[in-house]
Amino acid sequence: MVKGEVFKMEAQLIPLSLAGLDRRSALSYLENSMRKKVTVVGAGNVGANCALRIAGKELADVVLVDIVEGVPQGKGLDILQSGPVEGYDVTVTGANDYEATANSDIVVITAGFPRKPGMSRDDLLLANYEIVKTATEQAVKHSPNSILVLVTNPLDAMCWTAFQVSKFSKNRVIGMAGVLDTARFRTFIAQELGVSVSNVTAMVLGGHGDTMVPLGRLTSVSGIPLSELLDQATIDRLVDRARNGGAEIVKYLKTGSAYYAPSAAAVEMVESILKDKKKVLPCAAYLEGEYGINDLFVGVPVKLGSRGIEKIYEIKLQPEEKAALDKSAAAVKELIDVMKSKM
Ligand code: APR
Repeated sequence: MVKGEVFKMEAQLIPLSLAGLDRRSALSYLENSMRKKVTVVGAGNVGANCALRIAGKELADVVLVDIVEGVPQGKGLDILQSGPVEGYDVTVTGANDYEATANSDIVVITAGFPRKPGMSRDDLLLANYEIVKTATEQAVKHSPNSILVLVTNPLDAMCWTAFQVSKFSKNRVIGMAGVLDTARFRTFIAQELGVSVSNVTAMVLGGHGDTMVPLGRLTSVSGIPLSELLDQATIDRLVDRARNGGAEIVKYLKTGSAYYAPSAAAVEMVESILKDKKKVLPCAAYLEGEYGINDLFVGVPVKLGSRGIEKIYEIKLQPEEKAALDKSAAAVKELIDVMKSKM
């Protein structure tokens, strides 16, 4: 066994011993499985559902971390005990510190406040900045070779925070936004046309906020351009609903924000990385000149594989699309400037 794997095995013994296995049983268990390991920081609605989906797909062993004592442990155990019914064989454990997270392949950061009715994602900036800063510091200390997948809002600003704090290369800090935004757009299109959601592909650019840019032009149904199937007024209505898709759910829930679709979207990214699937997905990526944008995380199409972001696709935009993207990037920059002034 190579040195890295020995370290990884030792790290995995910790959650197993916490789960009550003695060292010998834990070792024999691990010898049969050098699975991937994913840490999910934040065991709230989004985090717990990420853990459940990762376990359900048998992608990796999962460690849930939260500041609230007992919650990650309890939810971890509960998810673990679904295994015999659902038929998955991964370990799921919970902790209040980061020791058990050591040598994770991926760290998904969902810790932080969700918004309430009337709030924009940007209203969460300063509170979640402190949380994401601490979570990143701790996570990367124990998993220096991991890939970070950010979910906490305001997403693009939180990616920038994690990127600065971790000092990771830009391919290893990725934000979940576009997969969710396109999932919402695809849902509404499929509903409107009465077709399978799996036939609808879509692309969204820009920040994960009110200024996101769903690209009707690059949206199709089994290769048929959307404009052949729907008139412009209908497309505009669906774009608008996708743009406000998060707020629509916050309004219903009243005490928090969406979590089933956000966790599904984050786990699609985790799966593409762990299985090196090289899916092309809209994600928040650090841009250095692409689309004329610098030193910001903004949603763009990327290839996701075992090295994280393996390619950023720079597509030719029409003038009004470029203008909308610039407006969205400017909104992200405003948040970064606020954070810079507080650092
Ligand atoms: N470290 C670890 N966990 C933390 C920390 C911290 N420093 N601070 C808060 N948390 C935990 C909370 O204890 C809570 O369990 O983060 C969890 C957040 O869970 P919820 O309140 O249920 O929020 P959720 O719906 O999961 O949203 C989390 O994801 O989609 C975004 O906008 C959303 O920013 C929000 C984040």
